[in-house]
Amino acid sequence: MRLGVLTGGGDCPGLNPAIRAVVRRAAQGGHAVVGFRDGWKGLRDDDARPLGPEEVFGLEHLGGTVLGTSRTNPFTTDEGAGKVLATFDRHHLDALVAIGGDDTLGAARELHRRGRKVIGVPKTMDNDVRGTDWTFGFHSSVAVAVDALERLRDTATSHHRAIVLEVMGRHAGWVALATGLAGGADATLVPEERYDEEAFLGRIRRALAARRCAVAVASEGVDLGLRAGSTGAQDEFGHELLGERGVGAELARRIQAATGAETRSAQIGHIQRGGPPEIFDRLLASRLGAGAVDLAVAGRSGEVAVLRGEAIVGLPLDQALVGTRTVDPAWLSLLHTFDA
Ligand code: F6P
Repeated sequence: MRLGVLTGGGDCPGLNPAIRAVVRRAAQGGHAVVGFRDGWKGLRDDDARPLGPEEVFGLEHLGGTVLGTSRTNPFTTDEGAGKVLATFDRHHLDALVAIGGDDTLGAARELHRRGRKVIGVPKTMDNDVRGTDWTFGFHSSVAVAVDALERLRDTATSHHRAIVLEVMGRHAGWVALATGLAGGADATLVPEERYDEEAFLGRIRRALAARRCAVAVASEGVDLGLRAGSTGAQDEFGHELLGERGVGAELARRIQAATGAETRSAQIGHIQRGGPPEIFDRLLASRLGAGAVDLAVAGRSGEVAVLRGEAIVGLPLDQALVGTRTVDPAWLSLLHTFDA
């Protein structure tokens, strides 16, 4: 067989181990792999290179993606879609492995609908893809955010300040929730819960009263009724750049105004997406990459390889693409167990 592989959407730790797994599993079965650069852009513009075991040597611990990525969606025009199909056929591909989040997987479904074989692999630091227990990239990003929170707590303690850490995650609060829980935040705000200023400030006040410092985590997607910082800029899939709203900085202003405590904020942004993948993500990416090849070799298409309990299974893309996977009530209940 001839397989194509691409990585699309925002990068995250684990993409390189996933590419490595696709190539090594294919080689194990005597199949060839061609990699497309910069996501769907590479398939549209026929920007490709052959990938064998030598090309993916050492990728298990490297952050980013050696294939490059973009948020290009070629299926918005007939011309773009036609170019993708032409490239697919020119390379005599039997199937494509598309590694990405909702947007990339949505484009994969378009390809499947146009009669070409495709298997998706879910990745994203946001952990917001439905149908899989976890996406790779998430644990690595949270490790970075927890490290940041612990550092902020040190300086907040020294200066008797409140500090707000703003994390990414788009409209799902998984990154904020896990950072707050694992890092011991006094208050954590996620988009799944309506912002309650009195409750939030109450938690900060209690922490300040007990320890003369407070640390809070806020997801970039929390709705504070803010439009101020936003330029309205969108990516190619129509997503607002939520970091521009400045949720963390605004919360810091509100805390200082309400409590009188000196307050700072930190927005760690894309730092969360870089660095070597955590072991969990290396293993998950390796399993999903190999699993996607197994599905393709079995002749399946229009599916995404997902983690279900202990197993890697194929799930129809239609079932994975039914909206954002958001934080559920059991996690929220656990989160509030640890509020100040
Ligand atoms: O989807 C991953 C993510 O990091 C989101 O958490 C964030 O809102 C967005 O990408 C940022 O996008 P960009 O890299 O285009 O600034």
